[in-house]
Amino acid sequence: GRGRVHLVRGTLLHFLDDPGDPPDPQAWQLFEDGVLAIGHDGRVVWAGPARRVPDRLRAGATHTDHRGKLIVPGFVDTHVHSSQVDVIASYGEQLLPWLNTYVFPAEARFADPEHARTTSGFFLDRLLAAGTTTASVHPTVHPVSVDAFFAEAADRDLRMLCGKVLMDREPYAPSYLRDRSVDDAERATRELIDRWHGKGRLGYSVTPRFAPTSTKRMLAMVGRLLRERGDLWLQTHLAENKDEVALVKRLFGGRSYVDVYDRYGLVTGKSLFAHGVHIDAADRRRLALAGSALGFCPTSNLFLGSGLFDLHAARRHKVKTGMGTDVGGGTSYSILRTLGEGYKVTALRGRRLSAYAGFYLATLGGARALGLDSHIGNFTPGKEADFTVLDWAATPTLARRTEVAETFAERLFALMMLGDEQAVAATYVKGRRVPTRDGG
Ligand code: GUN
Ligand code: ZN
Repeated sequence: GRGRVHLVRGTLLHFLDDPGDPPDPQAWQLFEDGVLAIGHDGRVVWAGPARRVPDRLRAGATHTDHRGKLIVPGFVDTHVHSSQVDVIASYGEQLLPWLNTYVFPAEARFADPEHARTTSGFFLDRLLAAGTTTASVHPTVHPVSVDAFFAEAADRDLRMLCGKVLMDREPYAPSYLRDRSVDDAERATRELIDRWHGKGRLGYSVTPRFAPTSTKRMLAMVGRLLRERGDLWLQTHLAENKDEVALVKRLFGGRSYVDVYDRYGLVTGKSLFAHGVHIDAADRRRLALAGSALGFCPTSNLFLGSGLFDLHAARRHKVKTGMGTDVGGGTSYSILRTLGEGYKVTALRGRRLSAYAGFYLATLGGARALGLDSHIGNFTPGKEADFTVLDWAATPTLARRTEVAETFAERLFALMMLGDEQAVAATYVKGRRVPTRDGG
């Protein structure tokens, strides 16, 4: 296309495929002195070594210099709650009492449109400050929570998935935070789909909270809607906590928790299941076959004492997997911090997570998990130029560790283990820098 090209210079790292374990260098491109060329439409035109920028791109180009810093595709958070900004770091409970004690009262405040709007804005600014440019987001049962979220996302031109939380089952959905009927819930959902789905970069994800807050009729409605509309996403929670799994067994029976969702048609190629800590090999095979994805949420699984996700098993079974912060069960908006905790979870299981596999999961892996990899996830030409610029020297600890590192892999691992929002020097959305630090 015509118009000026924007050339952004720095160290470029992006993935073309899953590097696997041990990581296969064919899966990524690393340009130590690289350039990302972005067209006027905010899409990648070219990525490669600085000395090989084609002349046709140089002519009349604008330049941004991030030399010495690392440029990676914007992070993808496959599971997070816009409604739990005020719940993060709430003391002392595991999942089910934590929901009742802290989460549901906080979500009730989203009946107020002004609260929904300002909180959604604050939430998105935390994501951007952490280098996250795409997420799959649970708001609340209130339609206005979806309107507020999507409006704020559209203002920032972000690629985002969201959908009204569906929860209608007594007593697990409390009376003050409950769909009045399946018909009402379906009507509200369809209105929101008409209003937001496919508008700019926004996509609608049908969002039954999880099995315990769902009646069988609600799950059946969701399954029908997904069958009717293959263009919609599905997001929910799966087998996060042992008490939850036992409750689902009691309420629904079935061979497994995955089997319950499967019975109602929720296990699709556009489904994202958060957690999946307590699942077995048959479940993984089923998820892999359906093309469903798991969201690995280590800071949440550790904070709520939910358990140790088996990342190795998910990858061995080729279940699409991405990283999720799960704020407010999770304790950080940072995907870097989330990867660092993810590494520790693998270590507790006697495995490991290479920095290359970690950065894959945080970018292209997350995009694939959400079925958004034709739009985002790496720097192949035509992709939307969402990216984040990371500072190897963000803290004295990181700077010193980076200084003594002998290989790029070692530096990248130090960044994965020690990095957080402080390491994010800049975030770009469709080629435009967004303000990420207070005041600037
Ligand atoms: N399961 C059902 N609802 C929730 C929630 O809000 N957070 C987490 N972590 N798990 C859930
Ligand atoms: Zn969650």
